[in-house]
Amino acid sequence: MNKAKLIVANWKMNFFYKQAYNFCKKIISKKKQIKNNFIICPPSSLIFRLSNKFRQINFGAQDCSAVNEFGAYTGDINSKMLKDINCKYTLIGHSERRELYKEDESLISLKILSALKSNIKPILCVGENLNQKRRGDTKKILKYQLNKVLLKKKEFKKVIIAYEPVWAIGTGKTPSIEDISNTILYIKNVLAKKSSIYKNVLVLYGGSVNTNNSKLFLNNINIDGLLVGGASLIFNSFFSMLKHK
Ligand code: 13P
Repeated sequence: MNKAKLIVANWKMNFFYKQAYNFCKKIISKKKQIKNNFIICPPSSLIFRLSNKFRQINFGAQDCSAVNEFGAYTGDINSKMLKDINCKYTLIGHSERRELYKEDESLISLKILSALKSNIKPILCVGENLNQKRRGDTKKILKYQLNKVLLKKKEFKKVIIAYEPVWAIGTGKTPSIEDISNTILYIKNVLAKKSSIYKNVLVLYGGSVNTNNSKLFLNNINIDGLLVGGASLIFNSFFSMLKHK
């Protein structure tokens, strides 16, 4: 029997409460069929109401402030506040935040520290863009992104890594299964070299995951799970991944 995988839904800036509520209600009504672990990352406007209503579902945020205290940081939500609304995880360093909001490694590393301080598990997103891939720099970029933000501190063993090639996000393109599997092994090797605390760290794949390719990804022994964008908004697509064994 295959080991259960971790499927993370990144809803990005989508859904009103009613749609999100119906989605979660459907999941709960079919929970006996679910074979994998899962986390839903709704927009922050929805987390409180959903987590209050659906105690059996693990929720994550899509970002968290680098500052762990109250203060004059307009627009930010910190990890203590996420904890207060029953959030257990947060995405950090998603490529859309790196690109649109110019988040760099120094900010991302503060965000990870801040999340861990409140016992929120960070899901660190890493991945090369198209130019970096064309130059053959994928490994170099991943090593940089990992080494710059991950420390040899034992609380870091809670970090989850999501390998998301930027060129695969929302494009319908993915690396081959061999490439994904090898890259994930490479990430695990980089982490193992860094410290033994990383020996059980989960490494997920994300980027144009859909119902057609998800089975192949989930059957691969090196891929510990999936980070799903567009397909996580379609109940039947997302649920087929949760059911897959
Ligand atoms: P898509 O699955 O829509 O390509 O998005 C991937 C992603 O960015 C998940 O974080």
